[in-house]
Formats: sequence, structure tokens, C-alpha cells
Amino acid sequence: MTDTVGHAQSPAASAFESTINGKQTHLYILKNDNGVEATITNYGGRIVSILVPDKTGKLVDVSEGFDTIETFEKSAERYYGALIGPFANRIANGKFTLEGQEYTLNTNNGANTLHGGKPGFESVVWDAIQVDASTLELTYIKKDLEGGFPGNVHVKVVYCLTDDNGLTINYEATTDKTTIINLTSHPYFNLNGVGNGTIVDHTTQINADAYIPVNANLIPTGELAAVKGTPFDFNQSTTIGARINEKNEQLEGGRGYDHTYVLNTHDNKTPVAIATGDKTGIVMSVFTTEPGMQFYSGNFMQGKNIMKHGGTDDFRTAFAMETQHYPDSPNQPNFPSTILKPGEVYKSFCEYRFSVVK
Ligand code: BGC
Repeated sequence: MTDTVGHAQSPAASAFESTINGKQTHLYILKNDNGVEATITNYGGRIVSILVPDKTGKLVDVSEGFDTIETFEKSAERYYGALIGPFANRIANGKFTLEGQEYTLNTNNGANTLHGGKPGFESVVWDAIQVDASTLELTYIKKDLEGGFPGNVHVKVVYCLTDDNGLTINYEATTDKTTIINLTSHPYFNLNGVGNGTIVDHTTQINADAYIPVNANLIPTGELAAVKGTPFDFNQSTTIGARINEKNEQLEGGRGYDHTYVLNTHDNKTPVAIATGDKTGIVMSVFTTEPGMQFYSGNFMQGKNIMKHGGTDDFRTAFAMETQHYPDSPNQPNFPSTILKPGEVYKSFCEYRFSVVK
């Protein structure tokens, strides 16, 4: 949606007033003093739109999604803009063993569990408090064995739109029983503006010397592979599409980039990744405390959904950069632990900060 002078507009809040599973849904509007705006619904804690200025000052919506709660609810593609949990990405065969006990999860991706299975955090209604004009606090209590995951887990996610045009996401969780946790969020970005073609000409840089190869079902092989000399090397800024069609077993298996990057040592003040829209000059810098980032080039987008801009969600018209621990960690003894015990506090930070090319 655009106004008469071409600025993008957020979907109407009234289109998000509904009741799902007996709980009221709304659209919350976060604004900062620069005119930047992000809208979030408590249904799945989803980012519904992010309006940022391009190099000419025109507001552009860079986050793909729908403009009504019903379309989010009914869409077969579950993850547009959503909070992902209890466990991001795949868990092989929907099974893992913790403290000697085997747990079986709901599977929803062939034999595997993807993004928490069914229901994942994308499908639940979160309790929401709009703290101030730029801050939204969401909470959800996951019941013991919901989706198969142990523990009553209290999750808090705080979205904040900062004055330097960052959308920060602070995650916290506690449990009453040993469990596993790996939270992320799944905005689908198009920095040329959603509905404006593919993302293959976006330039991208990722500070990672290694990535995690996967098998045919996109489950990690357990190896951390060097990116050097492969199409996975984004240490130097290059376009997403430059090497995406090269003959490479991993690219062919993932139908493009759908891999976790093993981020080089970083603090949360230095970007781990930077992407730029070639048409708008909009730059997105990603900051995190997490050791990994899933880089997904929209390879499973099939143009089956009509999106808020009136066009369809065609192949590679958006990309995701999901900060997280590594997929399938509970079954991969060499990966950093994703175990959360009673008395511990899980914390994770992600920021998507927007600027324009100088
Ligand atoms: C996964 C993809 C999946 C996408 C949408 C990404 O995090 O890596 O394989 O298709 O989410 O669900």
C-alpha cells in the first residue's frame, strides 16, 4: 500500500482485530522520531511491516507479509514475519534425548520438525503490552509437552524501534524442567521494497568463515565447512545471485542458500551481516549475540500467496537472516548447547538496523 505521494503505508490496524484460540489479536504500531514505522501483531508475534526511507527519502516497506489477520492465519506458508520457537529450524526425525529421556515432537517437514513443529510460536497468540511508542513486550507461556517439548517455558520477547532506525528483538526464557530452546524471528526482507522483484541483485556481506552443510532433507551433516573458495563465501560484499546457480551440491540441495552461517567471533555492536537493496540503496545491518545466522534466499517461495502489495510471493522475492543457534543442535554433540535448565535464563539479541548507502 502506498499513499498519494508514493510513501509505503502499513496495513490497517482494524484488519488485525480478531479472536484466535479465544484470545484477542491486534496490530501494534511502533514509531521513532525519524518517521520509521514497524507494525507487529500478537498473533505469532509477527512483524507485519517495516517502513524505512530509501536514498531519496521515500518510505519503503521492506518486510513481506499479508495485510489481514485472516490471510496470516490461513496461509500455508506459516512463517512470514513470525517469532519462531521453541526451536528454530529443523530437528531430525522430530526426536531428541535429554537427561536420558527421549522426546518426540510433532513433525511438519517430511519426517522432521521445522520451526517448533505444530503449533510453533508462529501460530499462538501472545500477550502484549505496548510499553511506549517504540516498544512492544510480548509474553507466552508454553505448557509442558506442548508440541512435545518439555517444560513450562515462560518466554518474553521485546521489540523496540530505536532512534538509529534499528528494530531490536530481545528474547528471554525460563523453564521449570530441563528443555531445549532456540528462538529467532522470520521476517522476509526485500530491501527494494516488497512487491518489487527478486532479491538476487541485493549485495550481501556475512562475517563468517564457515557454514553448516546439510543433507538432502536440510539436516546438518554435523560438519562446519570453510566458505573459502565456495559460493558460500560472503566475506566480501557480493550479490546474492552472483553464484547462486553455480554447480554446487549444497546449493543444489538447498535450492539456493538455506544454510546456517557460523558467525566469526563478534560482539553485538558490530554487524554480522549487511545487505543492500540495489534499487533503493536501503542498507540493513544485522547484529546479534547468537553464534549462527540462517541465510535463506527465498527458495521455497512459489508465488501461491497474494501478498499485501497485491502481487504474489514469487521465487526469491525475499530473503531471511535469522539469528540463532545451529539447527538440530540437540542431536549434534559438537554444536553449542541449546539446553535450558530450571534456574537459568535464556537470553538472545537480534537487531535489524536500517540506513541508506552513502
Ligand atoms: C528454513 C527454510 C524454510 C523457511 C520457511 C527457513 O528458516 O531454513 O528451509 O523453508 O525457513 O519456513
